[in-house]
Amino acid sequence: MPKPFTSIVLVLTLLMMIPLALLAKQRVIKGRSPRASLVWDMDNQDKVKTQKANAMFADGRGMRLPPEGTVARDDVVGNPGLTEGMVDGVWVEAFPVPVDEALLTRGRERFEIYCAVCHGYSGEGDGMINKRANSLMEGTWVPPTNLVSDAVVARPVGHLYNTIRRGIRNMPPYAAQIPVDDRWAIVSYVRALQLSRGAATVSDLSAEDRVALGAAAE
Ligand code: HEC
Repeated sequence: MPKPFTSIVLVLTLLMMIPLALLAKQRVIKGRSPRASLVWDMDNQDKVKTQKANAMFADGRGMRLPPEGTVARDDVVGNPGLTEGMVDGVWVEAFPVPVDEALLTRGRERFEIYCAVCHGYSGEGDGMINKRANSLMEGTWVPPTNLVSDAVVARPVGHLYNTIRRGIRNMPPYAAQIPVDDRWAIVSYVRALQLSRGAATVSDLSAEDRVALGAAAE
């Protein structure tokens, strides 16, 4: 073969490989824009993007609210004592769920996940976040309430439930993280902490336990 011809073929072959190399590179590089793809499949579809207008609806809003009266599939309806901790504007005083060992165990677990960071494992308000906030000495920190204080002991269980559900003053709500049953489980555990910290008297014990402790029977 004549020499110039070989060179031309070689150069052309190399040039032909550039687009392929670029395509191959597109498949692997990381970037903010979507990858180039030859076969689009479902990569690109018409969709309503967050906060964007949508002419299909009369009010032009792309993001729709659920229709009035919509309830989640597992929502309890018509039992405000259970779901709101309040009946006819009055906080419930008695637990709307059976309080047993399983509830307390669950309550302890959830309390230690969600509440102890601020209120401390004993509920006295000395959690890690409180310690850290104090060490920063910014002067703006509202300390988590001592949950075994007389003020909180005096709160009806419905009020404690509502504090978890909706938050209170500087404390944020935990309804999104903690479902109804777990809120009551936590309330039962808070009550147990209070009892263990002095709110209990000998008369709260069963006759057997009193004997076991050697306490005088009443
Ligand atoms: C991020 C920190 C933080 C977490 C987590 C937190 N709390 Fe609080 N809580 C606070 C603060 C702060 C206050 C006091 C708010 C105020 O007085 O402004 C408070 C107050 C309270 C009170 C007293 C309300 C009253 O009647 O005055 C209760 C009860 C309570 N929290 C229960 C809980 C329970 C139960 C959990 C777990 C589900 C929890 N908290 C998780 C920070 C927290």
